[in-house]
Amino acid sequence: MRSWRKLVAVATALITLTALGACSSTRDDSGSGSTGSAAPSDTLIGIAMPTRSLERWNNDGAHLQQLLQKEGFKTSLQYADNKVDQQITQIQNMVNEGAKVLVIAAIDGTALGPVLQTAASSGIKVIAYDRLINDTPNVDYYATFDNELVGKLQGQFIETQLGLKDGKKGPFNIELFAGSPDDNNAKFFFKGAFDVLKPYLDSHVLVSPSNKVPASDAQWTQVGIQGWSSQTAQSEMENRLNSFYTGGKKVDVVLSPNDSLALGIAQALSGAGYKAGSDWPILTGQDADVANVKNILAGQQSMTVWKDTRTLGDQVAKMVTQIVKGQKVDVNDTTSYNNGVKNVPSFLLEPQVVTKDQVQSVLVGSGFVKASDVGL
Ligand code: BGC
Repeated sequence: MRSWRKLVAVATALITLTALGACSSTRDDSGSGSTGSAAPSDTLIGIAMPTRSLERWNNDGAHLQQLLQKEGFKTSLQYADNKVDQQITQIQNMVNEGAKVLVIAAIDGTALGPVLQTAASSGIKVIAYDRLINDTPNVDYYATFDNELVGKLQGQFIETQLGLKDGKKGPFNIELFAGSPDDNNAKFFFKGAFDVLKPYLDSHVLVSPSNKVPASDAQWTQVGIQGWSSQTAQSEMENRLNSFYTGGKKVDVVLSPNDSLALGIAQALSGAGYKAGSDWPILTGQDADVANVKNILAGQQSMTVWKDTRTLGDQVAKMVTQIVKGQKVDVNDTTSYNNGVKNVPSFLLEPQVVTKDQVQSVLVGSGFVKASDVGL
């Protein structure tokens, strides 16, 4: 009887230990980096995200981690406070811990070559998440939303709202902003929008009092905002308003590539006395962050390009599983994204414009934002 009890106790302890091991989110000592045969529970997946300071990356990380853990994988989810060195150290740790696949949303898309060389030597596969990783052969897949289309949707929104195609009105005062110079996505966003707006700038239907207009989309960093910072965008907009909008001159439209910049720009507009519903300019965005959705409802932002990051997570979780199981990995584009060394096989998802009228039906309806969080 006693030895039977002992046996049960040992078995229970063993089961508990195994279960704890399966749930562990940080360590895997299982050794070699080869993929294709390991059981999910023996497999660590590293997830490197840029920063907790933006709502979207918190959602992205949490969702992907949850999906991968549901598949039975161990995960290590790390945020790097937008610091490149910190992200490199985190990735190196994931390599040391024996990760089989790394999912990386890079802070600086050109800074990861050396650490990914170590990863490749251990047979680790790499998926660039949302942002492409450049100048290295050691990125295996890329999953993102169609970045150029994001910008194009912003440009077309401005074109439609101002009736530019009809050619009857104008000139309109526009201010242009672009994303962080170290983020590979930012140039695609700007190009998508600028290709639509450039003809109107050339014909002076759109004019920019600050004159901050790159000669071509290749010079987009001239209007870039480092680190996608709301504060930097706010002070830049304040400077432009103070210096170039004197004597009653008003800005009619601001191209903002994303929601974090749009927040800062909106602050600057409020500070300068612009009022929603009267002289508030057209202001674009991207991400459908809660604060921006509130601004959209309050008439302080005209649109956001919504990327349902849950579908990106779903796609990436699927790709991770396919890699680990040695299956063919889903891609739908092999030509659009060259990282300076090769065309990276990609999976592109479609972004979608959301305006005030669609907040309830699209964002709340899909469960992306809670009605109560945005005051509906
Ligand atoms: C993402 C955007 C985001 C921006 C700032 C970009 O790489 O694609 O969705 O707004 O980074 O974090």
